[in-house]
Amino acid sequence: MDRIAIIGGAQLNGTIPVSGAKNSAIKLMAASLLTDEPLRLTNMPRLADTRFLGKLLTRLGVQVTESDGPDGQQTLLHAPEITSGFAPYDLVRQMRASFNVLGPLVARSGQAKVSLPGGCTIGARPVDLHLQAIEALGAKIDLHEGYVYAQAPRGLKGAEITFPFVSVGATEHAMLAAVLADGVSVIHNAACEPELVDLQECLNAMGAKVEGAGTPTVTITGVPRLHGATHAVIPDRIEMGTYAVAAAMAGGEVRLSNARPGLIDALLDKLKEAGAGVEETADGCIIRRDGQRLNAVDIETAPFPGFATDLQAQFMALMTTAKGESRIRETIFENRFMHAPELMRLGADISVSGGEARVRGVDQLEGAEVMATDLRASVSLVIAGLVARGETTVSRIYHLDRGFERLEEKLGACGAQVRRIKGDGEAEL
Ligand code: UD1
Repeated sequence: MDRIAIIGGAQLNGTIPVSGAKNSAIKLMAASLLTDEPLRLTNMPRLADTRFLGKLLTRLGVQVTESDGPDGQQTLLHAPEITSGFAPYDLVRQMRASFNVLGPLVARSGQAKVSLPGGCTIGARPVDLHLQAIEALGAKIDLHEGYVYAQAPRGLKGAEITFPFVSVGATEHAMLAAVLADGVSVIHNAACEPELVDLQECLNAMGAKVEGAGTPTVTITGVPRLHGATHAVIPDRIEMGTYAVAAAMAGGEVRLSNARPGLIDALLDKLKEAGAGVEETADGCIIRRDGQRLNAVDIETAPFPGFATDLQAQFMALMTTAKGESRIRETIFENRFMHAPELMRLGADISVSGGEARVRGVDQLEGAEVMATDLRASVSLVIAGLVARGETTVSRIYHLDRGFERLEEKLGACGAQVRRIKGDGEAEL
């Protein structure tokens, strides 16, 4: 399997273009199941996760064509008919978001058999809220031997869906299913993440009637059919935030372009508080640090617009060399501190107790061999490696390849000494 090697010490200077959001792209791809006309997605990231979902969709009857057009990287998805409503364990277990094909399959063809998912090893991550939503919309749900059997032979019906707590995936799933339901659906306590707004815009471009995404109440007036559309995937706020942290860690001046203001304000506020220079621009931001050591600051993860859990590991890496002690509270996922022991191999001083980590900044990290444990954790090790003395080698980077497009190239263009060491065989997806 491939590894990434980083030689620490180089500052970052230059521009990093932000790619389209992985977390949005994979839900938008699932929306192609809802229509027999082509859906063209532009600003598409090319990642293991998007390739992987493409494989699953192909099996269900979607023709998936990737190309590089005048609008950049795009993917055309066309499902003239659903040829199978079966999403097998082998394909779903490797990426949790694959489970979101269930709703569109039932909405369009009245039935589906979808394996219960796997995904990142960050806590239990059940799908009870997803099933609650699909069931509320009138599908009959049965669970047998690890599979969800869903049936709605006469179509789905509009419903009131009240989530007991906020879930991004379940809100998206409910939206994807309700657009073709008969009547009006209202989702209460909906997630407000920008990817929900992106999904609403794409679905509406396809002829759906969705209002309120980005607020806790989303209203969907069902339509009998959707049509084709072209939609540009929203910029990846997690990728943007990751490189913002990388720049603050390594020092120098990095401009993040092709993004949008307002997507990572909670992080930018914390970077400012720590002493980094932050300037918002029309299409992103500029992050500067001139060699002065950052101060320790505390964070607590929260649903959008709070501090994103997907940036927690990166921020912890940043705090390992800050002045003082930082308290990092994780409130979204249990078991999301698996990067802490790996950072400690690099010399970080971290203690974890329940949902809280205390990071006492050290003067210098030392390069070592470390292992990626999940998607965001893996990039935190690369960030730490940017300042560690000597060489840091990160193994199991198939986690990294799931969510970061051309990472070595983007960091390398700003002066980082990062290279990929090819393994014996290709990483299994
Ligand atoms: C999405 C993102 C992920 C991000 C997370 C929170 C994608 C592909 N992934 O994950 O990167 O970290 O939002 O911003 O978009 N839960 C239940 N039952 C359910 C659903 C969720 O108990 O049916 C729990 C989860 O275990 C977790 C919490 O709800 O503790 C929030 O999870 P959720 O918002 O659903 O995250 P995902 O959609 O899986």
